[in-house]
Amino acid sequence: MANRKFYITTPIYYPNDIPHIGHAYTTIAADVLARWHKLKGDKVWFLTGTDEHGKKIQNAAEKKGKSPKEFVDDLIPKFKDAWKKLNIEYSRFIRTTDRDHEKKVQEILNKVYDNGDIYLGKYEGYYCTACEAYYTEKDLENGCCPIHKTKVDLLKEPSYFFKLGKYQKQLLELYKKNSEFISPKNRKLEIINRIKEGLDDLSISRTSFDWGIPLPFDKKHVCYVWFDALLNYYSGANDFWPADIHLVGKDILWFHVVIWPAMLLSAGIKLPKKIFAHGWWTFDKEKISKSRGKVINVDDLVSIAGVDSARYFLFRETPFGEDGDFSEQALIDRHNNELADKLGNLVSRVAALAEKYGIQKTENRLLKKLKLKEIEKHFEKYEIDRALNEIFAFIDVCNEYVQSKKPWETHDKKVLYELADSIREIAKLLFPFIPETSEKIAKQFRTDKIKKDEILFKKV
Ligand code: ME8
Ligand code: MG
Repeated sequence: MANRKFYITTPIYYPNDIPHIGHAYTTIAADVLARWHKLKGDKVWFLTGTDEHGKKIQNAAEKKGKSPKEFVDDLIPKFKDAWKKLNIEYSRFIRTTDRDHEKKVQEILNKVYDNGDIYLGKYEGYYCTACEAYYTEKDLENGCCPIHKTKVDLLKEPSYFFKLGKYQKQLLELYKKNSEFISPKNRKLEIINRIKEGLDDLSISRTSFDWGIPLPFDKKHVCYVWFDALLNYYSGANDFWPADIHLVGKDILWFHVVIWPAMLLSAGIKLPKKIFAHGWWTFDKEKISKSRGKVINVDDLVSIAGVDSARYFLFRETPFGEDGDFSEQALIDRHNNELADKLGNLVSRVAALAEKYGIQKTENRLLKKLKLKEIEKHFEKYEIDRALNEIFAFIDVCNEYVQSKKPWETHDKKVLYELADSIREIAKLLFPFIPETSEKIAKQFRTDKIKKDEILFKKV
């Protein structure tokens, strides 16, 4: 079925610092899926961007002696540059300070208010500004945020509340009816158990600072940053709503499978089809942390062995959905042993032989060993690591074919045709993962007058 629509999002990142490997991972995953759907002929909308309001950003700006807007304006080009370096082809880069987004948030706030789902109260409780999240006494570890291990703030201020608790039953029904809404499935139980323990109403406004979207019905309050941020998916949808998939890290699954659908139910808007949570990367087996110097940013990542090797590594190393560990050596090993030795060698050998001896069209029996149906199925199920593994399994098959058929001795033009034709198919399938390399291969094999080009991967 061609020309379906496909709408995919990444989380919008906090621009309190430059993007690192974690942000890159989600964004490349979305790019791989977007490119795959474009290849299939679908109409694709791929939204990414930045989450610019709230106390976390205001604090970061103050530290630099800048206004929040000046501060984020200086950081946004760093995000855009990073995505350019990684060959991310997004459709729109949304900023929550964009005028159209702010208007949409106020519109939805009014709608939810008119529907009777927002009331004025007082919030008394804990808050972690690094998470931009509320915590209860029992969530804390030694009085600290369970994620950041830093002191939480005790808030006591007037606040509007969203009647989240009202949606407890509907949410549980949603997960039951739409069993793939939360993916991978193994993350579902934890969410369900937490909801069953009770779902409190959510504080959605603050008065103690002002860097946020004013509530349209009470301008003394600014909107809670998550209520504002989640709506980016809707305000930036460009007529593609509902989203086919929101890709998120497992750290923010709760916001996306509980708070977000409840907001939409309240506003009478269709729900997204799926929330997919991927795992977390550690760096040399340690938690990624800026303060402890355990961080690898996009420039570091690309400088090790080039952009395509970085993109390749992230989906070859670890099943999509599970945690992974990043190390420079592991990336270099895969670059040398797989991209250079397997893919690079196949392409340069076949190109050289085909240039020398020519090719002759015939039935391509080699190509029958490519498991195209499986690859398509993996993509449909967001098993992008498995799709990539399957493509590389076929590269192995092609290398074995070269070895066994010895076209350098036989000069068999038909064998060389089968190989060249198979390589064209490989180039196409690799396009979502390693677009630059894919285009370099396609260029050499575009016509039947094949010409060997410079090698694809220099060893590191
Ligand atoms: O949470 N491994 O923004 P954020 C894998 N603004 N992925 C990682 C990672 C790691 N070590 N570290 C971060 C926010 N990520 C909110 C989102 S959406 C409406 C608002 C990725 O800058 C992962 O996708 O903290 C995670 O969900 C995201 O970065 C969080 O980025
Ligand atoms: Mg975070």
